[in-house]
Formats: sequence, structure tokens, C-alpha cells
Amino acid sequence: MSTDARADRYALVTGGSSGIGLETARGLASHFDVVGIAARSPERLEKAAEDLAATGARIETFQADFSSLAEVRRLARDIKEKFPSLSVLINNAGVWHKDRTLSKDGYEDTFAVNHLAHFLLTTELEDLLAGGAPSRVVNVSSSMHRRPESINWDDLMFEKDWRGFKAYSHSKLANVLFSNELARRWRRLGVTSNAVHPGNVRSRITRNNAFLNFLHRSPVARVFILPEAAGAKTPVYVATASELEGVTGRYFNKFKEVTPSPVCQDEAAAQRLWEVSQQLVDAVS
Ligand SMILES: NC(=O)c1ccc[n+]([C@@H]2O[C@H](COP(=O)([O-])OP(=O)(O)OC[C@H]3O[C@@H](n4cnc5c(N)ncnc54)[C@H](OP(=O)(O)O)[C@@H]3O)[C@@H](O)[C@H]2O)c1
Repeated sequence: MSTDARADRYALVTGGSSGIGLETARGLASHFDVVGIAARSPERLEKAAEDLAATGARIETFQADFSSLAEVRRLARDIKEKFPSLSVLINNAGVWHKDRTLSKDGYEDTFAVNHLAHFLLTTELEDLLAGGAPSRVVNVSSSMHRRPESINWDDLMFEKDWRGFKAYSHSKLANVLFSNELARRWRRLGVTSNAVHPGNVRSRITRNNAFLNFLHRSPVARVFILPEAAGAKTPVYVATASELEGVTGRYFNKFKEVTPSPVCQDEAAAQRLWEVSQQLVDAVS
């Protein structure tokens, strides 16, 4: 794929070892020379790399547990050792817990993995993304970001009234607010940032929720729950479509720009979330 006439182009997908992330990596492989996949389980990463070997792109694997901010910092260093620049970063890794779980740093794990780890990874990769400009960050959120009316400022870690559904949808709202604030801050660098809903997809993410898992896998659900490859289509589109060159700070569903929930238009909330996130990651060395 690479030629002597131009430098290789690099893309990275977090949570690229399974589900929507694996299919997104497959979709990106025809657009980029090198595709990195980052995830927690070395076994699943290895299996995914074997699966992606036939795509023709060079596949690089990066292991890190996003439940540890120290591991995310180390991951950023590992990526910088192998990638001289980055044209696309897909922030996709995500969890949905059954019970309230703390990250290795003592933060509520849904918020830590789905939001804080991606906040830190993205900001640590600023130089690489600026070096790959015009480059794109795609933040995989969910239509569930619409459920919370606002960020839970008084109890970000859900010490009171934790429910899996609430913590998950709150983290997906954080994804959209982060995406919008990143768009504003990095426009000057030539780095765009957009958020997407990938669709309702039959993946491993519901494995901790017996009811949702049953719903996702029932024969009836096959009519309205998408296969994983379909869930990758909008992230790949937003990462690669030529008509989206320079488009930033938007939210997409089914290849179309749609309006996210009202709180996502609140620039002060997005800025506040950025500042609070910076303090939370700075508190962990
Ligand atoms: N499925 C849906 O219907 C749906 C709908 C809307 C939005 N989404 C979003 O789509 C994204 C992908 O979800 P999916 O459905 O494809 O889920 P999935 O099949 O469970 O895949 C999740 C990916 O994230 C990685 N991951 C999870 N915890 C991690 C951790 N602590 N550290 C590092 N990597 C971690 C997993 O790697 P390991 O296996 O190594 O842990 C895996 O590669 C998520 O952000 C989710 O919120 C999904």
C-alpha cells in the first residue's frame, strides 16, 4: 500500500479488539497504511490482529487497561514509539458494568474508562494528531447520551444512587461534551473532533446485563439490533469521508449529522467538564 512518494498514514482505534472497534479497524484498513488497535486483553488483541491480517494494512496492537490512568499514559508513549503521526483516532473502547466498580485509581469505572481514559489518551496524543493534520478524532458515544439532563456535577463518581444504566448514559453524554470542547480547542491545529452513535449493535458490551444481553440476542432483536459490522459504518464514514473534511464539533447517526441533546449545546458545561477531567487525571501520577 505504501509508496516512496508519500509518508505512511496511521489510524488508531481504542477497543479495536472486538465488537464495533474491530469492525471499525477493518473498515479503516482500506484507507490507511497502518492501523493500531488498543485494548485490555492480550489474547483478544492477538486474535483480532490475526483476523485483520488479510486486510492488507499493517496492524499494530497496543495493550493497556483503561481503568488505570498510568497505563493510559504508558499506552500513549508506546503509540508514539511506533507512530510518527496520526491521521485518525477513534475513541471507541467502552464498558457497561453490572455493579458499581472502581477503577485502579479509585474512580467510578464507567466514567474512568469511557470518558477519563479517552480524555487523557487524546490529549497525550496531541502532537501526533497535529503532526497528521488534517486529522480527525471520532468519539463513539451513544443515543443514550440523551438520558441525563446534565453532567452529575455534585457526584461524578455516582457514590449515591449508582445504576449501570445511569452511569453508562452519563459517560456517553461526557463523550459528546468532550468531543465538542476538543473541536473548539483543536480547530487551530487542523484536528477535527466529532461524536457518533454507532447504532444498537449486538456486541459483548451487554454481557454484564442479563436483561439487555437476552434482548440483544433474542431472535426478535435480530430485526432491530445491528450486527457489529453495521455499527462500524458511521464511525468509519466520519473518519474518512472527503465531504467531512474540516467538519468539526458535530454529532452523527446513520451517516447523517443530527442534533444531540440540549445539554450538548452548553459550551460552559463542556469547558467545565474539560477542566474537571484535567484535575482528575492530574491527581493520578
Ligand atoms: N453495542 C451497542 O449497541 C452500542 C450502542 C451505542 C454505543 N456503543 C459504544 O460503542 C463502543 C464499542 O462498544 P461495543 O458494543 O463494540 O463493545 P464490546 O464488544 O464490549 O467492545 C468493547 C471494546 O472496548 C475494550 N475495553 C473495554 N474495557 C476496557 C478497558 N478497561 N481497557 C481497555 N480496553 C477496554 C474491549 O477490550 P477487552 O476485550 O480487551 O476488554 C473491547 O475491545 C462503546 O464505546 C459503546 O459505548 C455501543
